[in-house]
Amino acid sequence: MKAVCWMGKSKVETQTVADPELVNPHDVIIKVTRTAICGSDLHLFDGFIPTMEAGDIMGHEFMGIVEEVGKDVTNLKQGDRVVVPFTIACGSCFFCKKKLWAACDNTNPNAHLMEAAYGYSGSGLFGYSHMMGGYAGGQAQYVRVPFGNVGPLKIESDLDDEKVLFLSDIFPTGYMAAENAQVEPGDTVAVWGCGPVGQFAIASAFMLGAARVIAIDHFPERLELARSIEAITIDYSEDDVEVLQALKDLTGGIGPDACIDAVGLEAHSNALSGFYDTVKTALMLETDRSAVLRQAIQAVRKGGTLSIPGVYGGLLDKVPFGAAFGKGITMKMGQTNMHNYMQPLLERIEKKQIDPSYIISHRISLDEAPDMYKIWRDKKDNVTKIVIDPWK
Ligand SMILES: NC(=O)c1ccc[n+]([C@@H]2O[C@H](COP(=O)([O-])OP(=O)(O)OC[C@H]3O[C@@H](n4cnc5c(N)ncnc54)[C@H](O)[C@@H]3O)[C@@H](O)[C@H]2O)c1
Ligand SMILES: [Zn+2]
Ligand SMILES: [Zn+2]
Repeated sequence: MKAVCWMGKSKVETQTVADPELVNPHDVIIKVTRTAICGSDLHLFDGFIPTMEAGDIMGHEFMGIVEEVGKDVTNLKQGDRVVVPFTIACGSCFFCKKKLWAACDNTNPNAHLMEAAYGYSGSGLFGYSHMMGGYAGGQAQYVRVPFGNVGPLKIESDLDDEKVLFLSDIFPTGYMAAENAQVEPGDTVAVWGCGPVGQFAIASAFMLGAARVIAIDHFPERLELARSIEAITIDYSEDDVEVLQALKDLTGGIGPDACIDAVGLEAHSNALSGFYDTVKTALMLETDRSAVLRQAIQAVRKGGTLSIPGVYGGLLDKVPFGAAFGKGITMKMGQTNMHNYMQPLLERIEKKQIDPSYIISHRISLDEAPDMYKIWRDKKDNVTKIVIDPWK
């Protein structure tokens, strides 16, 4: 089959590789009908996540048709159409029983690598390094999905793939970000990053009753998408715009009730602290560029909430923790507990409350993926979301 393989920093190739096979009795094999490139894939492409090996298959956002089922799979049969969550969960450990699916204790066979670095391991993830389980990803024609009884969501209506594909990650991620922001009716919410995760965080904050959402980015097409769903926007690259002051001006001087960092460890910044991060990460003296996290801690109102769906990898410098403490803010973060959100958000799509396909800008084949990774990294060509048809 064809698959998009990581071949080193800033290099992916579409290669012909062996088809996946059932390994465990609870596995299913999916014939992938649509898959997507995520902002999280950039952290692999840009070399921020260790333990990738040449030839690893990329991709954790995918859906398709069940091709083969292991003998212990009872919930799915050949021919079922499914969306697969990017976090792999067993469904029966302490954490899965608490519905903390992204903390599953049974799905990362390389947990010792995470434990050495972080103390504990989260769940395994598709296509996201050996440290996160070494599972082959879904930017391919076929993929093996473990725990077939637990993760995949059956799509029984005739909704187009493009309308439901983002239930695999970014729509639930944006929704959990808004839920973690503890949005209450009437709130003002600020969202940093108008990429796909930011877009669904904005849409979800409105679903949870926010009166105003202020969206921050610097790409005109992304700001335009945010305005198209009623957000107020701030372009942080405009010379006379100072984000913290703009947020104060919009909130009577007190700051937003909730802030959402939908950017994560690769934040850009023109400020001196941004230069500091660029130099220190290049010298491997710091792991993450935290410009947005710092700004969001400073911006949020006293007693407000900071929700962080953006991925962080390691040790952060100059995070104003004293400000966080002094203001008594709540911080919530982490990989999305996907399984809690897929069915309820599917129902919202079925009821036509939202059509997540509005963010798609590019539809490509697997062969076009290597070039598109560069366009996605550099945010060229007005790219807002890339969807791959593996059979094109
Ligand atoms: N928590 C999870 O489970 C989960 C799931 C999916 C994605 N993510 C993470 O969410 C983040 C966003 O993903 P995406 O697909 O939207 O990525 P993306 O790269 O498309 O978007 C990031 C956006 O942030 C903007 N940005 C950069 N610096 C900024 C700044 N200083 N102020 C405001 N905006 C700034 C960029 O211009 C870009 O538009 C990534 O870190 C990704 O890894 C987390
Ligand atoms: Zn993703
Ligand atoms: Zn589990």
